[in-house]
Amino acid sequence: MSQAIESTLNESRVFPPVPAAQLKFSRWQVSSLEQYREMHKRSLEDPEGFWGEAAAVLRWAREWDKVLEWKAPDAKWFGGGQINACYNCVDRHVEDGHGEEVGIIWEGEPMSRRTGHPATGSHYAPMHELRWLRYREIQRETARLGNALKGMGVKKGDVVTIYMPMVPELVIAVLACARIGAAHSVIFGGFAPHAIVERVTDASSKVIITADGGFRKGEVIELKKNVDEACEVLATTPNKVRNVVVLQRTGARVEWRPGRDVWWHDAVEGASDHCPCEPMDAEDMLFLLYTSGSTGKPKGIVHTTAGYLVYTNLTARVTFNLIPGTGQVFWCTADVGWVTGHSYVIYGIMSNRVPTLMYEGAPNFPGNDRFWDIVARHRVTQLYTAPTAIRTFMKWGDEHPARHDLSSLKVLGTVGEPINPEAWMWYHTHIGGGRCPVVDTYWQTETGGHVITPLPGATPTKPGSCTLPMFGIDAAVVNEAGEEMPRNHGGLLAIRRPWPGMLRGIFGNRERFVQGYWSRLKDPKTGEPYYFSADGARCDPDGYFWVMGRVDDVINVSGHRLGTMEVESALVSHPGVAEAAVVGMPHEIKGTGICAFVTMKPAWMQAQSRTADEALRKELSNHVGHEIGAIARPDQVRFAEALPKTRSGKIMRRLLRDVAAGVEKITQDTTTLEDFSVVARLRGEEE
Ligand code: WTA
Repeated sequence: MSQAIESTLNESRVFPPVPAAQLKFSRWQVSSLEQYREMHKRSLEDPEGFWGEAAAVLRWAREWDKVLEWKAPDAKWFGGGQINACYNCVDRHVEDGHGEEVGIIWEGEPMSRRTGHPATGSHYAPMHELRWLRYREIQRETARLGNALKGMGVKKGDVVTIYMPMVPELVIAVLACARIGAAHSVIFGGFAPHAIVERVTDASSKVIITADGGFRKGEVIELKKNVDEACEVLATTPNKVRNVVVLQRTGARVEWRPGRDVWWHDAVEGASDHCPCEPMDAEDMLFLLYTSGSTGKPKGIVHTTAGYLVYTNLTARVTFNLIPGTGQVFWCTADVGWVTGHSYVIYGIMSNRVPTLMYEGAPNFPGNDRFWDIVARHRVTQLYTAPTAIRTFMKWGDEHPARHDLSSLKVLGTVGEPINPEAWMWYHTHIGGGRCPVVDTYWQTETGGHVITPLPGATPTKPGSCTLPMFGIDAAVVNEAGEEMPRNHGGLLAIRRPWPGMLRGIFGNRERFVQGYWSRLKDPKTGEPYYFSADGARCDPDGYFWVMGRVDDVINVSGHRLGTMEVESALVSHPGVAEAAVVGMPHEIKGTGICAFVTMKPAWMQAQSRTADEALRKELSNHVGHEIGAIARPDQVRFAEALPKTRSGKIMRRLLRDVAAGVEKITQDTTTLEDFSVVARLRGEEE
């Protein structure tokens, strides 16, 4: 952490906000630092008043009785109120006369299509596959799918699993669940069958919505096949999957299980397009989203209906300056499989009636300028992406964005990991043309929405800092005793009071919820628990936050959250692996790369006549890819005779991190087998 502090301490550039007119905005939602400070102060002094007003922007089936009841760690927001999230993202706009407006803009990966006349010879030309979905159509489709799901026995409170590519039907599936009061559990399409089994089992989910495949870089990702594999395993457990709804996207051939498998188009055919939005109690579960923690098992983060919706609606509006009906096009490049996609592809954006753009494919297909081509053609006004993507674009070269007209852009956002000042500056200069404010938004799956972020019309920005807390957020950098650290000293990032978008629990695991988030830090005077983010941070003399990264065993690989223990579990499930330890290491593009130290079983090595070589490295890496998904593949596999341990048997992770980062040289780092015995002995019991 000290290195990070040093490099950002030297960062002194400040970029003041610009007048709205300069960016051709009709106005800023929050237009000065004074206004921000006043609103922030009020949000903490009068949370009921502040959040009551924020909630009144939405339409309720029944108004709430009480804005907040708080008995740490349990928050009840808008108790007594009833509301439906799908209604507020879709039906409300139709009822208000905006049914013909576009809610979703979708761009598929271009596919080669045969063109030309047979006589002149055919050739293949890339074609853009585009769809614009109006609110009226989204309403109809969510209603039809909602009815189809009900027909399959899905009831209010059930969990429906969604494992789909980035196509509009993914959003329709999510909103259809919200419509009928079923909770959705979206699994990122890059996860492997084993990950599906884990999540479906934990959620006791009986229905899975998937597709015959999705396109990425011209290839078909076989989603249905992964679901089939998962279902095969699940069939041997008490949690059998009743139905698999399959969207036809690629036309690829799929295995079919009659009775269980249903084509999406068959399911909705003849389904009524009348499906009233179920009034949900404010604290009814809206969704479950599995994320990595410091154990090998992912945890199902529970978000409830009203607080989450109010929070994503407000944060999306103020952070991105959303104003409906002014020609804005918002593009968040995250997959809906992650929380960023939930909050800022769907709920926060659609509830503000600003069109949300979805793109199915990769940033470098067919060329390295695909993103800029999309921005230019769709006249994107707000772009939201991850630092890892920005670093990749930097590497690909300035000429790619330079070829396109990016003048429609007004606000640029980043999320997922700390952004290094170089990447920030490049984004600002080469994408934003030096005119667009950059909002570096800090938040987590658990927080529901942005908790520390600049507001583009109000907050002077500093490259590398996520700046100031969101309304209602009482963030602080504290020590283990809960005392605030002096300025510029690193510490733990805490949030000292509840906010509407906060997680309400870990599905089926109260203990882990209380232990993980609410037990480590508390108010030194009152003993009231603080929310512990598991991130390290420092606050500068201006009160600006600089997030240093995780202080637990979670790593952010290309902005994707992974538990080192998950990767370790995957490694030791390989028959030849005796023991494994996984640590993060600095990586130029990914931010954090994965380094795995592995001890092989001598007997297995001998029996298989294997040596610790490149082929074995590759095999182990593929094994992890097969168990979890490609994102978890180690960047480095290093073989060791034995892992360095303290006398009490704990793996010396700090030593491994130093070795992985090249900070610590081990005795014979030129040989294939690393020998930690000397360093370990020298270090003794110090971890
Ligand atoms: C990290 C993603 C620095 C952080 C929304 C956090 C960030 C974890 C930032 C959550 C940022 C996210 N600056 N670090 N702007 N945004 N992080 O749950 O370590 O996938 O704890 O949520 O990402 O990752 P998650």
